[in-house]
Amino acid sequence: MDTFINVITSISWWMWILIVLAIVAIRDVFQNKHTIQHNFPIVGHIRYWFESIGPEIRQYFVANNREELPFNRIERSWVYASSKNENNYEGFGTDRDIYAHQHIFINNAMMPYQISDNHPNSLDQSFLPCAKVMGAFNKRKKPYRPASVINVSAMSFGSLSATAVESLNKGVKMAHAYHNTGEGGLSPYHSNGGDVVFHFGTGYFGVRAADGGFSMEKMIKLVEDNPFIRAIEVKLSQGAKPGKGGVLPGAKITQEIANIRGVEVGKTVLSPPNHKAFSNVPEMIDFIEKIAEATGLPVGIKAAIGKLEQWEELADLMIKTGKGPDFITVDGGEGGTGAAPPSFADHVSLPWVYGFGDLYKLFKNKGLSERIVFIGSGKLGFPAKAAMAFAMGADVINVAREAMMSIGCIQAQICHTNKCPSGVATQNKWLQKGIDPTLKSVRLAQYFKTFRKEFIEITHAAGYEHPCQFTMDDIDVNVDDHNLSKQLSNTYQYHKTKVPFTSMQDLKNCMHLGGNY
Ligand SMILES: Cc1cc2nc3c(=O)[nH]c(=O)nc-3n(C[C@H](O)[C@H](O)[C@H](O)COP(=O)(O)O)c2cc1C
Repeated sequence: MDTFINVITSISWWMWILIVLAIVAIRDVFQNKHTIQHNFPIVGHIRYWFESIGPEIRQYFVANNREELPFNRIERSWVYASSKNENNYEGFGTDRDIYAHQHIFINNAMMPYQISDNHPNSLDQSFLPCAKVMGAFNKRKKPYRPASVINVSAMSFGSLSATAVESLNKGVKMAHAYHNTGEGGLSPYHSNGGDVVFHFGTGYFGVRAADGGFSMEKMIKLVEDNPFIRAIEVKLSQGAKPGKGGVLPGAKITQEIANIRGVEVGKTVLSPPNHKAFSNVPEMIDFIEKIAEATGLPVGIKAAIGKLEQWEELADLMIKTGKGPDFITVDGGEGGTGAAPPSFADHVSLPWVYGFGDLYKLFKNKGLSERIVFIGSGKLGFPAKAAMAFAMGADVINVAREAMMSIGCIQAQICHTNKCPSGVATQNKWLQKGIDPTLKSVRLAQYFKTFRKEFIEITHAAGYEHPCQFTMDDIDVNVDDHNLSKQLSNTYQYHKTKVPFTSMQDLKNCMHLGGNY
């Protein structure tokens, strides 16, 4: 034994390095899983290592301010600075090529809209509720006016960590906004006082019957037990993976997740592409009506847009029956997800402007746009983008990844690996402990308030009191030369229906105003 230890200790450090390299080289030559390592022993590893740190190197050192996707550095920095209430201005003028194709311009008025000393926005610079009431047309028992035009989009507990969901819920409470649960059911982390929109998909998590179908009894009980649920959203599809079901692996189903979702511990659960509760448009309308009747709440649908035939059928049936969804959430093909195959995320469904434009025009042409609250999601969490969305007919914006960034997401783009370094999109206990909900909830709230303040300022610059007054003629989209640049109304070939807005004061006085005002 002593001789062995003497030999080991007599080997110098550089000999150790040579021994390790020799072992690696032998392993490389005798394995055939990685061709490059086999053909170029030792140095072959450098390629894999460089490849693995490439995204970080590009993000930190190489990519320019406007280059990265889904969100470039300027966009991310704006969310970070806004959420920390730091200086979110830029100096010296824009670094964007404002002559670039598809760049949008908001036409400012000669003189901005002026507010009086007792105007709601003089008292609160970020007071910006929705101009429409969900469920008003269909006379639901509990209509709801979202008290914020920006809200947290569907993201489940399961795809997000417990501390992230808690931060978002506490944050929306402070910002008077709502929190959409996402598909994973209502968790205790969604129950910290903020308004909640309960969302479910084909897995019916949280309202799931023993056979995997929808349980109305559970839906009724859930709403009765949790009066902060203000609306219900039925998911048909989302932009990142329309028509694609999901698998929740048994290994991820802890006792807590099983209780919240209404499934068995450790047993893999499939979310099929289609709903069991309905299989065509008339049945879907019936389903919506039954839930609205049983719960009293406004009920809407969420979808990514592609073909329009079934939407046309929905619109015709809404005219014929006087029934239908109270709100429609249109998700853009550029929308985010916890996990999706790139072929779906990159190619299936239209980008937001095309999808929303097509859908809104269809409902508008049939005289239905006033009946519906239109919600938009798909990288719209920036005031100028929101102005464009409102000009096109959106009444509310939902944000997912922008909200994640406000609570610390660094766009590592590994939500699907359970290794999210910021603790936002992981179930790893150590990683999620890095999030302090007390601090991060303030960040989310501050981001929403800054967003609304800047959105109001842009609205005033365009001569309006509320962004619902934006029209398709207020925004131009660049097609190379000012003589060629076209108003949205020319590009997308419609005018939105005028939203019946009286004043911000009337919205403030509304008895259906949510957000704990
Ligand atoms: C981590 C994560 C989880 C999501 N989970 C859901 C979900 O459960 N149901 C759903 O309809 N959309 C889900 N989405 C999509 C978002 O709700 C949203 O529609 C989309 O990301 C576009 O908004 P954004 O561009 O602001 O991120 C998820 C997105 C992310 C990033």
